Amino acid sequence: MSGFLEGRVAIVTGAGAGLGRSHALALAAAGAKVVVNDLSSTGDARSGEAIAAEINGQGGEAFYFGANVTDANAVDEMVLTALKKWGRIDILVNNAGILRDKSFAKLTADDFRLVMEVHVMGAFNCSKAVWTAMREQNYGRIIMTSSASGIYGNFGQANYAAAKMALVGLMNTLHIEGEKYNIRVNALAPTAYTQMLAGLVDENTAQMLTAESVSAGVVFLASEEAPSKTILGAGGGCFAVSHIYETPGVYLHADERTPAEIARRFGEISAPITEGALENAFSQIKKFSHLAKNSA
Ligand SMILES: NC(=O)c1ccc[n+]([C@@H]2O[C@H](COP(=O)([O-])OP(=O)(O)OC[C@H]3O[C@@H](n4cnc5c(N)ncnc54)[C@H](O)[C@@H]3O)[C@@H](O)[C@H]2O)c1
Repeated sequence: MSGFLEGRVAIVTGAGAGLGRSHALALAAAGAKVVVNDLSSTGDARSGEAIAAEINGQGGEAFYFGANVTDANAVDEMVLTALKKWGRIDILVNNAGILRDKSFAKLTADDFRLVMEVHVMGAFNCSKAVWTAMREQNYGRIIMTSSASGIYGNFGQANYAAAKMALVGLMNTLHIEGEKYNIRVNALAPTAYTQMLAGLVDENTAQMLTAESVSAGVVFLASEEAPSKTILGAGGGCFAVSHIYETPGVYLHADERTPAEIARRFGEISAPITEGALENAFSQIKKFSHLAKNSA
């Protein structure tokens, strides 16, 4: 196998099925050595092993490592095993995930905590475990798996949406802290007909939404040419980027800073005419002080 990611080492979490499986195969097809991770305590272990065997059978290099991403010690052991075997970790795809969908009225704290634990703490544990190696080798590509559910909202997914948007926050700051070490951090917002979407879309849509149609986007985000701090939407062969924008804003004089005045001028405050992306939290402070000085 040769290609885009020749000599790179990748870890894909939750790669025993669905999107993770497809990402692992695509990364290997592009030349990366791949750690195929999934839960070891379920039948998924067998499919993780089968995927690693498939990659090895095609002339690639892969091994299966069963670890629950919520278990920081197991994750550390996985990363150490990869480092001992291959000497580096270039790519981490935080893909492992679960659903516990319920309307907010029925959602329990346990449903909320579990979903946060797998998506957010799982991505934290894995990113933390590879961070030192990536800094030391001055190269890294981390991909968070977000979701349109978090970016835009979705009925019955308060826990999942909160977790998926938390990953955008994690991406934003890891992007800033990783920049000088050539670590680029991005998020994927995929749509694919996997066991996660079973029964939720019609057959035509299901046929279009293959996991394979998403994975080229992951290979791109895992490559030297990757952008950073980008949310890449991907599904059915379509690719798009979600931006977080802020309106120019309005300065209110001290005596105008009342809820009534904000309500009165809310159209102006929220008008998206010349909105633009902000680079980081300080850009907002800079923008506000500029606006205040020019309006005072
Ligand atoms: N399918 C979609 O349309 C869609 C949309 C948006 C986001 N996503 C996200 O994409 C990712 C993959 O989803 P999918 O549709 O392939 O789901 P999937 O259920 O087919 O696969 C998820 C895999 O993660 C594994 N996993 C779950 N918990 C784990 C843990 N604690 N540790 C290690 N592995 C674990 C599962 O065993 C499974 O093999 C998830 O993060 C999901 O939230 C999927």
